Amino acid sequence: MTAHKDPFKILFPKGVSILLGLLLFLLLTSVHALAHEKDKSRWDSKYDTETYIFGITPIPFLIENLKLLPKGKTLDLAMGEGRHGVYLATKGFDVLGLDISQKGLQKAHKLAESQNTTIQTRVVDLENHTLEKNSYDLIVCTYYMQRDLFLQFKDALKPGGMALIETYNIDHLKYSKFNPKWVLQSNELLETFKDFKIIRYQAVDNGKIAYSSILIQKL
Ligand SMILES: C[S@@+](CC[C@H](N)C(=O)[O-])C[C@H]1O[C@@H](n2cnc3c(N)ncnc32)[C@H](O)[C@@H]1O
Repeated sequence: MTAHKDPFKILFPKGVSILLGLLLFLLLTSVHALAHEKDKSRWDSKYDTETYIFGITPIPFLIENLKLLPKGKTLDLAMGEGRHGVYLATKGFDVLGLDISQKGLQKAHKLAESQNTTIQTRVVDLENHTLEKNSYDLIVCTYYMQRDLFLQFKDALKPGGMALIETYNIDHLKYSKFNPKWVLQSNELLETFKDFKIIRYQAVDNGKIAYSSILIQKL
């Protein structure tokens, strides 16, 4: 019987393969670290102004559904300058906000102070973060699109917990040169959260912007 030698093993003896693997790992880690730093400084410089660039008023979908939301441990993902977390804190929710931008979160604390309330915040790269399991009564995520993060909601919510999401959908591309990767497809939220109870859903196109919103409950 003829023994066939693996061409990879001939070209790269064991020691060399380990070294190549290590180099590849280092390369990928530095690419990720660079992307993180780029995002962080981009958002920090956007937020480096007295003005609240996304305003201090919550989205109507949150206000309209306030009475349905379970009061308790609340996670505001990609909180930004805090318009949602701070509003919820004034209504008695116990809010933790996560965002990559320290500047944004500083503004969120300033907003909370001006409204005589308090929030907790943490600077976190959500692309490299796992949500605590079975921990939250409510998760809010607005105008931040990260599909693999949405998939963590089921584990992160307590039974009966809810999540409220709103962001641009595919119709928004009529109005903006937004990267198509970062908009929701038609019915995407309904599909992603099909094993939750859908409490409210809307797809809006008002002639200037187009977005979808959903309120779901973990069964
Ligand atoms: C369009 S803003 C939305 C802010 C807020 N949710 C709102 O609706 O006002 C997007 C937010 O995502 C944050 N962000 C971007 N990349 C992030 C990442 N990898 N990890 C955590 N936050 C990130 C930005 O700093 C920014 O605050």
